[in-house]
Amino acid sequence: MEYILLTGGAGYIGSHTALELVNAGFNVISFDNYSNSSTEALNRVQQLTDKKIISIEGDIRDPEALRQLFTHYKVTAVVHFAGLKAVGESTQYPLHYYDNNVTGTVTLCQVMREFKIKKLVFSSSATVYGDAKQVPIPETTPRSATNPYGQSKLMIEHILEDLVAAEPDWAISLLRYFNPVGAHHSGRIGEDPNGIPNNLMPFISQVAVGKRDQLSVFGNNYPTPDGTGVRDYIHVVDLALGHVKALQYLNKNNGITAINLGTGVGYSVLDMVNAFSQVNKVAVPYQIVPRRPGDIATCYAQPDKAATLLGWRAEKTLEDMVRDSWHWQSTNPNGYN
Ligand code: NAD
Ligand code: WQD
Repeated sequence: MEYILLTGGAGYIGSHTALELVNAGFNVISFDNYSNSSTEALNRVQQLTDKKIISIEGDIRDPEALRQLFTHYKVTAVVHFAGLKAVGESTQYPLHYYDNNVTGTVTLCQVMREFKIKKLVFSSSATVYGDAKQVPIPETTPRSATNPYGQSKLMIEHILEDLVAAEPDWAISLLRYFNPVGAHHSGRIGEDPNGIPNNLMPFISQVAVGKRDQLSVFGNNYPTPDGTGVRDYIHVVDLALGHVKALQYLNKNNGITAINLGTGVGYSVLDMVNAFSQVNKVAVPYQIVPRRPGDIATCYAQPDKAATLLGWRAEKTLEDMVRDSWHWQSTNPNGYN
């Protein structure tokens, strides 16, 4: 039997992708150290699909664990989600971020190479565009980073580009996600952040469910229509389907390609708050506070390359995003616990 390996497969995007890969007929193995996830996520994916997902606990910085995995299972491609993703934390613990994200990716690729596995989908991020001068943002935009997390993603993109330059038989997709939100429509899997959420949507959901008093809106004096920050929010199920398409693309195309996964539409913080409360008929109290250091005014994708190369476009609406976020949060107020 042939398998797709998901590093970080138990995480937010990994678990939703595991579900869509199984639905598309792939056999899936997850390899995760559970540093930011729970074994329960993939239990639920198994319940939803009625298919077995092999879950292995391990760290991508451990080459022996990866060798054992590749010896036991015939893996044809790797979707590499495993990584740390909190921007603020990355400024406090840069070495931890570089070790986990950069060293981890190098170790993973070295062991893949030993086993002649040369198809890789990498979870990159719109963060590699830094503060882009123009929107919508095409993949050709010059890259930069403003914090160690973003720097780690940028370094990995360069490392993978160098790898393909040296060994053109690799097939690698750098998927640059914009702002993933929402949850599977079943409400059984979703985003389960540790502690106080850094990101907007889980914070709104936790205010709505009564776990937090109010949302702090970070600044209302940006050069945007209502003064609050504008982002390209993408439904996590659309994002997951983009990975299925990327894997199909890698079966036919060697080399390395960067592809935006976004909708091409920007919504402000207040658009998100208003949509959430109107669609779900629930109050989201908020106050305006000063800007968060490092935030940019506006960021949204030019999404056409994904349509041309992968035949993929985001299809879900803002209403789907806020409804599905709330369905997950309201039926699982304490996440997977
Ligand atoms: P997540 O934290 O839910 O998932 C990451 C998973 O990787 C977790 O299950 C974690 O336990 C695991 N992991 C971390 N380090 C590991 C290691 N050394 N070995 C094995 N497993 C390890 O995050 P997510 O939102 O699902 O993000 C997935 C990927 O997408 C990350 O690489 C992230 O940087 C990237 N990304 C996320 C966003 C976002 O806003 N969620 C946006 C752009 C890019
Ligand atoms: C969205 C908007 C905030 C929280 C981050 C990473 C990026 C990527 C996605 C991984 C902004 C505002 C937020 C709050 C608020 N991750 N906001 N109150 O900053 O666009 O991107 O996650 O790659 O790299 O930087 O996402 O959800 O934190 O913020 O007003 O409590 O919501 O100012 O305008 P961001 P976010």
